Amino acid sequence: MNLNERIPNNVNLSEDKKLQRALEKWLPNYLDWWHEMGPDGFQTTDVYLRTAISVEPDGWANFDFVKMPDYRWGIFLKPAQPGATIGFGDNYGQPAYQEVPGEFRNSLRRIIVTQGDTEPASVEQQRELGKTCPSLYDLRNLFQVNVEEGRHLWAMVYLLQRYFGRDGRDEADALLERRSGNPDKPRILEAFNQPCDDWLNFFCFTMFTDRDGKYQLSALAESGFEPLARTCQFMLTEEAHHMFVGDTGINRVVKRTAQLMKQGDVRELGGIPLDIIQKHINFWFSYSLDLFGGEISSNAADFFAAGLKGRYKEQEQYQDHAAVSQTFTMTVVENGQLATRDVPLRNALNEVLRGEYVRDCEKGLARWNKALADEGIGERLYLPNVRFHRHVGEYAGQNFDIEGNLVSKEYFEQRKSDWLPSLEDREYVRSLMHPVTEPGKIANWIAPPASGIKGKPFEFEYVRL
Ligand SMILES: [Fe+2]
Ligand SMILES: [Fe+2]
Repeated sequence: MNLNERIPNNVNLSEDKKLQRALEKWLPNYLDWWHEMGPDGFQTTDVYLRTAISVEPDGWANFDFVKMPDYRWGIFLKPAQPGATIGFGDNYGQPAYQEVPGEFRNSLRRIIVTQGDTEPASVEQQRELGKTCPSLYDLRNLFQVNVEEGRHLWAMVYLLQRYFGRDGRDEADALLERRSGNPDKPRILEAFNQPCDDWLNFFCFTMFTDRDGKYQLSALAESGFEPLARTCQFMLTEEAHHMFVGDTGINRVVKRTAQLMKQGDVRELGGIPLDIIQKHINFWFSYSLDLFGGEISSNAADFFAAGLKGRYKEQEQYQDHAAVSQTFTMTVVENGQLATRDVPLRNALNEVLRGEYVRDCEKGLARWNKALADEGIGERLYLPNVRFHRHVGEYAGQNFDIEGNLVSKEYFEQRKSDWLPSLEDREYVRSLMHPVTEPGKIANWIAPPASGIKGKPFEFEYVRL
């Protein structure tokens, strides 16, 4: 097999015999995984997909009809900056690391494996969705997200195989062995073990959980380990579309719900009531907040000190890249009550990144609320308080209401079905999920998109079934 032809890349694969050998072994296992755990069905179907074939301005977005298994999973790094330096932490201004520094080897490997694990996990979570697509346009977007998450796995596997020797190759194999939601070999992070088996969940996932990905990748795009920084910078170009799918997907559901609210009872009319949408927002927002890690974190401080993981837009937003002398005030739980505490800034960097994320999510809520207002509906959607329904960090193990007040476990259990999707809510949403595959047609519970893909109309046959 000619790997260089099969794997478009700008990492000099044709000259790198060791990497070729590792990838030759890994590629068949990857394809096995894709067939076993990738989209169920549709493997011989032509899909109008975007493929990255080079890092040139026009090369990362090549549109054509492709069968998913023939998608060219490329390995691309943003071109190197000559004379790149470490942009923050204790070694600020030193030459960027081009190989893995021995003392940070375990930390870096852990960062890369944790990021890498999310990519195949999301493909597994979305495996069944093709069968219930609301339109061909949406089906195409689902598959676009799936193949790109597959490529992101490749990007992380490249780093492991190229820079971490034997244990990197073992980790690359393990990335194909864990399974989302499998109690015996789960994915590493909990949001990636949650079921995502209807389209409302899918849109919330791509809105909130892919958006966590944006912030993690942005922080890693600042890394002093230059191959990681360059890899993440390139991945971010693709990630924008995933969040677009989620953001506009929910917007379209909200718009349709608002239209039905004016006609009568949303349930009777076959739409998704606003309170069920709100509960799904609460669920995915809270699980996605957990992905940022503990509010007070010595790991975050260590990664920053070492120059491995920076802040969001570290170079653009900050003047002081050492961040040693400041403190950050956060809300903690002390003796069963909420209190404020000053924490050294470096230990609060997970929370700083989470704050950036929350502000970004708020913009999405504003767009959805504008859709409600445009339809003349007075109700509004909102984000729950960041303490609500948390499983990681300072607020885990405590019970908070939707506004972030400490409440008893009994009270939480009593109100839970007002705040989070109940079994009945999930079953109702599932009952609406019937495939609509005629070009130009759309399911009743969602509005059509404002425009199609790459200048094509909504009616275009994006998937040739
Ligand atoms: Fe990704
Ligand atoms: Fe993504």
